[in-house]
Amino acid sequence: MNKVLDPNRPKRTVKSFASRVRLTPKQKLALATYRPHFVVNNQENEVRFAELFEKSAPTVIEIGFGMGNCLIELAQSHPEINFIGIEVYLAGIGATLAAINELGLKNIKLFQGDAVEILKNQIPADSLTAVLLFFPDPWPKRKHHKRRIVQPDFVDRVHRCLLPGGYFHLATDVADYANHMAQVVNSHLQFHNFKKDSHDLQYLGRPKSKFESRAKRKDCDITDLVFVKQ
Ligand SMILES: C[S@@+](CC[C@H](N)C(=O)[O-])C[C@H]1O[C@@H](n2cnc3c(N)ncnc32)[C@H](O)[C@@H]1O
Repeated sequence: MNKVLDPNRPKRTVKSFASRVRLTPKQKLALATYRPHFVVNNQENEVRFAELFEKSAPTVIEIGFGMGNCLIELAQSHPEINFIGIEVYLAGIGATLAAINELGLKNIKLFQGDAVEILKNQIPADSLTAVLLFFPDPWPKRKHHKRRIVQPDFVDRVHRCLLPGGYFHLATDVADYANHMAQVVNSHLQFHNFKKDSHDLQYLGRPKSKFESRAKRKDCDITDLVFVKQ
């Protein structure tokens, strides 16, 4: 007998992440204690950054911050900037909450969830100084390339959220993904390549991470791509 499919069933969408849920006791404790203070509830409404941070300041988002090392380092060295981290990985959220508390950082908030949805629903248009995407999952098998987060729709969403003159910094240690990123962002007509000297926004660069030593071990290069919203 043929199955009758419900036309109202939710569409299955391709996700750029796999689910993992193993937490250390420290991460569990940090989640239980600090989540209400630093993790924004998922909602349909856009957030107001000045209310969220109780302070108006340039705002930067890091997408897929993993265990939070870059996010924490940037927030520590730039107290004049508000940072938002978006991550699906609960252990990473727990580890980052523990570090935020240990260092007494006031300029970080976190979102737990799919950045593709959060950019669309919760981040206002023309609001961000920079969007950082460091070492996104490369999904190396060809049949999994559709799971790569860098896709035309995603780039549109990043572009919508950036201020004019704001920048999008991507980094990867996978040559094939670097080509894919360059191709997708270059075909977005309202992004152009960043030139350090002709840019007046503060460029934050990228803190060194475990990917530097990993690239050295594997004898491969890290590619940094930076694009500016026209
Ligand atoms: C390979 S890790 C890199 C982590 C970190 N950026 C670093 O440099 O160490 C990629 C991270 O992106 C997260 N991620 C993947 N897709 C995501 C999405 N759609 N929204 C939020 N986070 C995502 C994964 O959970 C994972 O922690």
